[in-house]
Amino acid sequence: MNATRRAPLLAPSFLAADLANLQAETERLADSAADWLHFDVMDGRFVPNISFGLPVLQAVAKYAKQPIDVHLMIEEPQHYLAQFRDAGASSITVHYEACPHLHRVVQQIKQLGCRAGVALNPHTPVALLEDIAADLDVVLVMSVNPGFGGQAFIPNTLKKVAMLKELLVDCGSDALIEVDGGVSLANAGPLVEAGADVLVAGNFVFSAPEGPVATLARMRDYLTNLETAELNAGARRKQ
Ligand code: DX5
Ligand code: ZN
Repeated sequence: MNATRRAPLLAPSFLAADLANLQAETERLADSAADWLHFDVMDGRFVPNISFGLPVLQAVAKYAKQPIDVHLMIEEPQHYLAQFRDAGASSITVHYEACPHLHRVVQQIKQLGCRAGVALNPHTPVALLEDIAADLDVVLVMSVNPGFGGQAFIPNTLKKVAMLKELLVDCGSDALIEVDGGVSLANAGPLVEAGADVLVAGNFVFSAPEGPVATLARMRDYLTNLETAELNAGARRKQ
């Protein structure tokens, strides 16, 4: 791991929140260790599930203190970008597999003033991003097949994140690497060491008996300790 690594960000996923109490859920995250709020939109076509969309985002945005990170698991996302920005999105991530004209879609997101992200399904190789990497703000690596929360983390993701990190460095891209699906304290350390900058977590955060705020604080402490240990190890190597 290199010393220039950015401090990892935490992005709890609303998919696992209490959807009958979204105002309360958003408000209790306001003073938590969450850096972004992850908002999963599913259309029942790109993925075999339907979640929530524009009116719900607009409602959540009224109470949100952190930037809202919108993950569009939908076909033809280009038709809805401005509406998601207007509803409160700070970042908009579209799927590589859903965009034959990805370069245009990425430029459209940036022109709207949002962070532009591209998500890769577990079977999609990172090498396909070579010609777009320099234009991206975020690359989201799916560590489960998109569509549902609470699935098991796919171990190959670690190798994929490390390969993506190399590709981004080679392309001179500053894009953040975001990992989404089955993330918990069991894999957060290795993910960050492989190069992850943003950790999305749904069930691990919201289903924990101690609740999301305490769980996010525990994740933040763990990541801070990891960083301190690394800095100390780096300093020892220099002596
Ligand atoms: C899955 C979504 C994820 C999901 C993560 O399609 O993109 O953001 O909410 O949930 P967990 O952490 O429970 O796998
Ligand atoms: Zn997601």
